Amino acid sequence: MDTRTCQAGGGTRLAGIGRGGGGAASGGKATIGPLRGQSPDVGTCLDPCIALCGTMREIDESHIGAEALEESGRLGYEFYRSIGSPTRIVAPMVDQSELAFRRLCRRYGSNLCYTPMYNSKCFAVSSAYRKSNFDPHPEDRPLIVQFCGHDPALLLASAKFVEKECDAIDLNLGCPQGIARKGRYGAFLLEEWALLRDIVSTLAKNLSIPVTCKVRLLDSVEDTITMCKMLVAAGARIITVHGRTKEQKSKATAGCNWDAIRRIKEALPVPVFSNGAISSLEDVERCLRETGCDGVMSSEGVLERPGLFSDNVSTVTGLKMSQDDIVLEYIDLAKQSPPHSRGRTSVPCLRGHMFKCLFTAVAVRTDLRARLTKARTLEEMEELALAVREARLADPESFDEEKTWYRRHTMPHTSDEWGTPQALWAAQAEVVAEKRLRDPGPEEVGLGDSIFGEEEGAGDY
Ligand SMILES: Cc1cc2nc3c(=O)[nH]c(=O)nc-3n(C[C@H](O)[C@H](O)[C@H](O)COP(=O)(O)O)c2cc1C
Repeated sequence: MDTRTCQAGGGTRLAGIGRGGGGAASGGKATIGPLRGQSPDVGTCLDPCIALCGTMREIDESHIGAEALEESGRLGYEFYRSIGSPTRIVAPMVDQSELAFRRLCRRYGSNLCYTPMYNSKCFAVSSAYRKSNFDPHPEDRPLIVQFCGHDPALLLASAKFVEKECDAIDLNLGCPQGIARKGRYGAFLLEEWALLRDIVSTLAKNLSIPVTCKVRLLDSVEDTITMCKMLVAAGARIITVHGRTKEQKSKATAGCNWDAIRRIKEALPVPVFSNGAISSLEDVERCLRETGCDGVMSSEGVLERPGLFSDNVSTVTGLKMSQDDIVLEYIDLAKQSPPHSRGRTSVPCLRGHMFKCLFTAVAVRTDLRARLTKARTLEEMEELALAVREARLADPESFDEEKTWYRRHTMPHTSDEWGTPQALWAAQAEVVAEKRLRDPGPEEVGLGDSIFGEEEGAGDY
């Protein structure tokens, strides 16, 4: 190998990053100083070959230090136990796993939540972006804050802002959207192993809290295992595996590969969370059994049924609640902690929750659907939720609770069977277009541009 021409993919630029932290909410400072080029001492746990070769093909198990793996495993489990050994985890969800929703899910059995993905490019430099997106709350722990990005310095600077107000920092290595390809983040980093090693070791060495990674599958399970080991050796203390490849999205979403997740779990020394194909509490229990994972993360399932992890039993009152009452509880929490976007209450976020939680009602009742597409305030959403509750109580037979939002891609259906889903999606598209006209989002960072998580297909993160 010619080391003069074989460059590390990452090019870590660490010089001058302040270690002060101080917290996003308190306006703490994490400064990005002059960038000094590559830092060869970052990441000492791997063979130097990895630092010099950018692509996965040049790396194999022999390059991954057994001691680093073992140490990471020990620290990973120590951390996992310190936050209560969580097994029921709310996924990071752009525009949807905001504070009010997390608080709701915690009341229904979730024992760990992730923030939505924040873009490190924005978070590191914009106090308005930080203020608008991250709002620490005493009830909201344990909490993992997720970032995307490819620049170790920006990721570290972002993480420094929140390290005192969360329990770990997660790196998004799963987003398969076009916007992630453009921004060089998410699943598009999965083959840039030297860069990944740089990012993870930079965060692990410079933060006072652990680093975790959420990955998708590569084409081969063996390669995925090697990549995960590389991440763990670089300092990742928990790995979440979404059991699909980055090509398995939208209409090609397909089943989730729990067997691959099981094999990855068996091969790794750190806690592993399984992600994908969870639509009920029985699925959670089956997934834990079949994959052997330490925890189960749900996204779409819990979005539609925030009570999924406890089968709608409130951990506050011990009472089993109806779906509609849980929606009203969400609205109450949203009144206390309104989801915001650039200084205003985020209507897309609220509507997104209403749409998924009330799907079985709005999919068949055009009048309720029309109200949803027009609702702009929490009061209007509350009135809608009350109307749905009333309609369901009056005539439960007219709603088919099997035709869920979660199953929209996998359940064979025609427009007749589903009411008129095409009209539903068309209504959504109108709302998306209207929102874009009114409020063009930060396209380059790919945030919040999917009102119902449908534009590129939900789960496409
Ligand atoms: C609306 C929505 C937003 C999402 N945002 C993120 C995100 O910010 N970060 C991330 O890693 N994954 C994100 N995802 C993907 C989920 O975390 C999860 O990996 C995927 O949906 C598969 O899990 P599921 O089968 O439980 O839905 C998002 C998914 C949805 C539906």
